[in-house]
Amino acid sequence: MKGIVFSEFMDMVEEKFGLETLDDLIESTSLKSGGSYTAVGTYPHEEMVNLVIRLGELKNIPISDLLNAFGHHLFDTFYKNYPGFFTGVSHPFDLLEQIDNHIHVEVKKLYPDAELPRFETHRHEDSMTMIYRSDRKMADLALGLIEASAKKFNTPLNIETTLLKEDGSEVQFKIS
Ligand code: HEM
Repeated sequence: MKGIVFSEFMDMVEEKFGLETLDDLIESTSLKSGGSYTAVGTYPHEEMVNLVIRLGELKNIPISDLLNAFGHHLFDTFYKNYPGFFTGVSHPFDLLEQIDNHIHVEVKKLYPDAELPRFETHRHEDSMTMIYRSDRKMADLALGLIEASAKKFNTPLNIETTLLKEDGSEVQFKIS
């Protein structure tokens, strides 16, 4: 998993819970990297999982809520750091349709070792179906990112989540 994801996660923890919690988290999670990340580096996905689980324990917050909040935080970062992907986009559906065939394709060019989810999208008259597939099982993060895009483009959306595979590697979002 790319370092930007880790450094943004640390940023969010500091912002939401303060420096003391951040220190506590790093000290009490077993991290091979020692907890220092550079944006261009790549680190084991397992470290992210361990950090989220530990933060959930420290703060007594469900992991799904933490990943969702992280999705919102990450969206703002992407929006600031990669404005090119958002120019000319005025509706969240247009953005969501472009993740798999454009945005993440460019991300892969920039960072060949990035591990990205796949999204299958189907557009209907007033709604959209999006199927998330990833061995990293981070659909809660995807949901946060999708919600944040709705907010950014001032388009209230209703999102129904259905688990297509029990282990979370395949999840359907019905967005209207
Ligand atoms: C609403 C829009 C987006 C959604 C729903 C989305 C979804 C996701 C998810 C769920 C992951 C976690 C990895 C996984 O589940 O396998 C991910 C990773 C990532 N995405 Fe996106 N994404 C969006 C937009 C963007 C944008 C605009 C960028 C900008 C460059 C971006 C760059 C990345 C990067 C760098 C990673 C990390 C890959 C790695 O750690 O190896 N994404 N994305």
